[in-house]
Amino acid sequence: MADVKLSGVHKYYGNVHAVRGLDLTIGDGEFAVLVGPSGCGKSTLLRTIAGLEDPDDGTITIGGAVVNDLRPRERNIAMVFQNYALYPYLTVNDNIAFGLRARKTPEIEIRKRVGEAAEMLGIGSLLQRYPRQLSGGQRQRVAIGRAIVRKADLFLFDEPLSNLDAQLRDEMRTEIKRLHHEITTTMIYVTHDQVEAMTLADRIVLLRDGKIEQQGAPLELFEQPRTGFVAGFLGSPSINLIPATLKINGGGAAVVFESGGTMTLPSAKTTSLTSAEGRQVLVGIRPQHFSRAGGGSLRDGVVAYSAVADLIQPTGTRTFTTIKIGGVDVVAELQAHDVSRHGERIDLAIDLNRVVLIDPASGLVIA
Ligand SMILES: Nc1ncnc2c1ncn2[C@@H]1O[C@H](COP(=O)(O)OP(=O)(O)OP(=O)(O)O)[C@@H](O)[C@H]1O
Ligand SMILES: [Mg+2]
Repeated sequence: MADVKLSGVHKYYGNVHAVRGLDLTIGDGEFAVLVGPSGCGKSTLLRTIAGLEDPDDGTITIGGAVVNDLRPRERNIAMVFQNYALYPYLTVNDNIAFGLRARKTPEIEIRKRVGEAAEMLGIGSLLQRYPRQLSGGQRQRVAIGRAIVRKADLFLFDEPLSNLDAQLRDEMRTEIKRLHHEITTTMIYVTHDQVEAMTLADRIVLLRDGKIEQQGAPLELFEQPRTGFVAGFLGSPSINLIPATLKINGGGAAVVFESGGTMTLPSAKTTSLTSAEGRQVLVGIRPQHFSRAGGGSLRDGVVAYSAVADLIQPTGTRTFTTIKIGGVDVVAELQAHDVSRHGERIDLAIDLNRVVLIDPASGLVIA
C-alpha cells in the first residue's frame, strides 16, 4: 500500500515539453484516473512514476520515500499496458508466475498466489492454455493476473482495455473495479475514454497539454467544471455550446443567441452576472437536460422550447435528436419514443438550472 506524490514534475522529449510542472497527490488505496486527449502526457506521467522515464525536474514520492533514483524494479510497482504482451510459448500459469520466478519466489508460494489470482479473475480453468488459445478479454485478464500476483504497492494501468470490443470493455471495466474493491491497492489508470474515467475513478485527473486542467470526484468534475474544456471532455454526447450575448434586466439575466431567440436564466445563475451586460458567452447545455414538455407549468429554471427534429439517433434506451438553437446544431437526449421522424415538431423543456456559461476568450466557466 502506498500513496503517491508528485511535485513540480517536468519532462521534456527534445523540445517537446510533455509534462509541465505537475503537482499531484494520490491517496493510499485511491483509484485515480488520468484522462485527457491524445498527446496530453498521460503515458509519459505514468512511465515517469514507474521509473521508465526520468523526470527533468521535480520529485516523485511513493509511500513516503523519494523514488527518483530508484530503478523501475526497485519501486515495487506493477504495470499493465495496452498491448499486454504475454509470452507466447508459456502457458497462462507460467505467464502469471513469470515475475515471481524471476524474483526467486519459492514454488509453493508461487502456486498459491497464481491460484488466488486466477480465481479472482475467473481464469482458473485456463491455466494450462497458451495465449493464442485465449480470447482478447481472457488475455487481458492474464496480463492483470501477472500484475496482481506481484503484491505490488502500486498498480499502473495504461489504456488496458483499448484493444477490446465494446462489450468486453464493459465487462473488464467492471472486473477492474471489483478487483480494486478486493485488493484496495492504490491504482493509477490512464484512459482517454471518458466513460471509463467516470465509472472507475475515485478521482479523475484531467490533463491538458502536460498540466492538470481540473481534478476531483467524477460527478464534481461533471457538474462543476471550471473550464469549457472540462465541460466538453466529460459527458456523452458532449455538452452543447451555443454562442450568445448576456442581457441583464433588473435582477435577472438572459442569453440572446446570435441568430435570435432569448432564454431567461434561473435566478441562482444570475447573482454573479450583474455587471456582465453585453458580454459574449458560450451557453453550455448538456443533452441530458432536455426533455419532452409534458404540458402544465414548468419548474423554476426550466424553459419551453419548440424545435424541429433533424437527425434522430435511437440507442434503444434513449434517442439523440439534433435540433437547432440560435442557429447552431444541438443534441438533445430524449426518451426512446419521444420523437420518431425527421422534420417532426417537438415541444421541449430545457432545464437551465445546470447550464454553464463560458467566457469564449479565456475558456473559463463564469457561471
Ligand atoms: N519517446 C518520445 N520522444 C519524443 N516525444 C515523445 C515521446 N513520447 C511521447 N512524446 C510526446 O510527448 C507528448 C505526450 O505524449 P504521451 O505519450 O504522454 O501522450 P498520451 O496522453 O499518453 O497520449 P495517447 O492518448 O495518444 O496515448 C506528445 O506530444 C508526444 O508526441
Ligand atoms: Mg498514451
